Amino acid sequence: MSITAANPIGIFDSGIGGLTVVKAVHASLPAEQIIYFGDTARVPYGSKSQFMIRKYAQDDTAVLMKYQPKMIIVACNTVSALAFDVVEETGKNIPVLGVLEAGAELAVRYTRNKRIGVIGTRATVASNAYPCAINRLDPDIEVCSSPCPLFVPLAEEGYTSHPAAEMIAEEYLRQLIDHGIDTLVLGCTHYPILKRLIGKIIGPDISIVDSAEAVARKTREMLGEQDLLNSTESTMKPHLLVSDLPQKFKSLCELFLGREVPDVELVEV
Ligand code: DGL
Repeated sequence: MSITAANPIGIFDSGIGGLTVVKAVHASLPAEQIIYFGDTARVPYGSKSQFMIRKYAQDDTAVLMKYQPKMIIVACNTVSALAFDVVEETGKNIPVLGVLEAGAELAVRYTRNKRIGVIGTRATVASNAYPCAINRLDPDIEVCSSPCPLFVPLAEEGYTSHPAAEMIAEEYLRQLIDHGIDTLVLGCTHYPILKRLIGKIIGPDISIVDSAEAVARKTREMLGEQDLLNSTESTMKPHLLVSDLPQKFKSLCELFLGREVPDVELVEV
């Protein structure tokens, strides 16, 4: 299979959280054809065992491989943390980019006091993947992590500024604030939906690392290095694949993507 700049970029997540990554990549590289797979039938991954997460990662990559992508972006921190090697193996020789590495790199660049907070799903936090990725880049950085399992349903319900969401966020983030962090990594692709609320609680002195934006930057770099950037002037509409079409899909999509829902296709995994 010969890969050219015209081949699509494949992106996947457990559900629709990864659309925050689609939005950032599309904004940065509008000429690229994006094929997104959201495993809406099996979300959430963050509360599942490593065995299941690795199996899902293999299935999700196989779905995207049918479209001959020039690269795959793992827009799920949980898969990036626990099954990145599975994606690389299933993706054969194409480049794979994970949200986790991109977010860790940006956090290391942002921190001044070398105290970084990381929030993510239970599986991501338990894997210790963020502290490892951050400390590989700078062993002197102290990483304080906290799982925020209720953030995923809050984001999916559109509770972006609801008082209940504020109480929960306060509860989750207090310990990190008290720890003196100056940088907070949103280590789950659902969390950028709650960015304003999180920012209100942590205050202006703590920088927020949105791995979606970090990944968009890295995608451009990676494709540029391999001479695979699509240099045409056109703007391509992302194509969405899902494993289930929940009733509230349209409104959720608009919430994550910030615009009207592009073409959606139901696929089997
Ligand atoms: N969006 C996924 C992540 O980045 C979390 C959602 C889930 O638990 O499936 O980890």
